[in-house]
Amino acid sequence: MDHADHVYLIQNGIPAAGGEWADLGSGQGAFTLALADLLGPGAIIHSVDRDAGVLRAQRRAMEARFPAVSVRYQVADFAQPLDLPPLDGLLMANSLHFLRDKAPTLRRLVALLKPGGRLVLVEYNADRGNRWVPYPLSYETWRGLAERCGLEGTRLLATVPSRFLGEIYAALSLRPRPQGRG
Ligand SMILES: C[S@@+](CC[C@H](N)C(=O)[O-])C[C@H]1O[C@@H](n2cnc3c(N)ncnc32)[C@H](O)[C@@H]1O
Repeated sequence: MDHADHVYLIQNGIPAAGGEWADLGSGQGAFTLALADLLGPGAIIHSVDRDAGVLRAQRRAMEARFPAVSVRYQVADFAQPLDLPPLDGLLMANSLHFLRDKAPTLRRLVALLKPGGRLVLVEYNADRGNRWVPYPLSYETWRGLAERCGLEGTRLLATVPSRFLGEIYAALSLRPRPQGRG
């Protein structure tokens, strides 16, 4: 996959330019760069990974390609409480599959979203893992998990074929807005 594929996968989940997002398990930034491209200058992206080395590489790529986007790098474990402000969106690309028990973390992450905020997930469309992708979740599994963890409106954004585990999908889910009175 190249930058155009990364943009293609998530673009229908990223509504408007700007806003404050976090990319969790951002690695060398394949999807952080796509997010920066789509959100544009004026956006703030919190780029979180537990590996400081990959974030250094990501920073170099970001500064070369999208210098006007404000990216705040944070070395942290997203399975633990995170120090982040209320967010317009969360992106998790190929990172949730490292957690076996996903629900407790997911519920904590949903609470970081503003009402109406978005969670964009990119994952392999498979439920059986291997040593590199230990606990993947198919789109159908994600739909159920998202609902159990307080998200709504889950929909498939796009898929691309993958020689590794068959297919990659991107999905969008929303944190509900409070119901109006009366
Ligand atoms: C397969 S890479 C994906 C990187 C990028 N999101 C992408 O799609 O190209 C997974 C990344 O998630 C990070 N990661 C895995 N579990 C994590 C955790 N609990 N907290 C923070 N980062 C984590 C790893 O360090 C790695 O950089």
